[in-house]
Amino acid sequence: MRKKLLIGNWKMNKLPNDGAKFAKECSALTLLAKEHDIEIGVAPTFIALTAVVSNAPEGLIVSSQNVNEHDHGAYTGEVSASMLREIGVTHAIIGHSERREYEGETSLRCHEKIVALLKEGLVPVYCCGESLATFEAGETSSFVAKQIREAFTGLTASEASKVVIAYEPIWAIGTGKSASAEIAETTIKGIRDVLRSMFGETAEEIRILYGGSVKPNNIRAYMACPDVDGALVGGASLEIDSYKALLEGMIA
Ligand code: PGA
Repeated sequence: MRKKLLIGNWKMNKLPNDGAKFAKECSALTLLAKEHDIEIGVAPTFIALTAVVSNAPEGLIVSSQNVNEHDHGAYTGEVSASMLREIGVTHAIIGHSERREYEGETSLRCHEKIVALLKEGLVPVYCCGESLATFEAGETSSFVAKQIREAFTGLTASEASKVVIAYEPIWAIGTGKSASAEIAETTIKGIRDVLRSMFGETAEEIRILYGGSVKPNNIRAYMACPDVDGALVGGASLEIDSYKALLEGMIA
């Protein structure tokens, strides 16, 4: 049974103090989540991580939004998995479409990041997803399959089982134009088929989230899909009331 997971991707929002305040306000939510066997977390900016970790109630996952694939060295402006582990971060989002678009992040580089994170015992949250042009050309499944193969080739089944995938169609991110639950389920089921061809039955253990304009009023529909194991949420995760409503939507 795959545990459901909700992660708020704060992107470049919230000062450390805002993050600390939000974390404190999550204490009742972590209890509610635990009661329903759901994991919840947030992904602040690098500079807010320590403030959020220090104020996080037990059970609130704290994730970074990126990591470098090297452990240390001459990589100006970068942060490694061992550094994240040291300050109490347990997850790292990698391959987000905004980083692919603005920072040239590739699936092959994400493979290196996955290896680096697993080595430190951190959970990679690997994002994939197609552009509107690819979607309209009917090439979503082959495009996403390639992103999965490039990032997962070379991992053992046991390593792969520790990775969380987030399917986020680019045309649905921050646009208010969410993919229908049917599209999310079809694509995510397709991702699981690719994983099954690579890792056999272990594919059933790998959690795959949907992301892209998830809101309190549509999260239920995604959670009703058998292959959707949770949500990676941007805009609707920024306010505590909305974040709470997302969790409640996952429970209902
Ligand atoms: P959104 O962002 O929920 O604001 O569409 C999702 C994401 O980019 O992870």
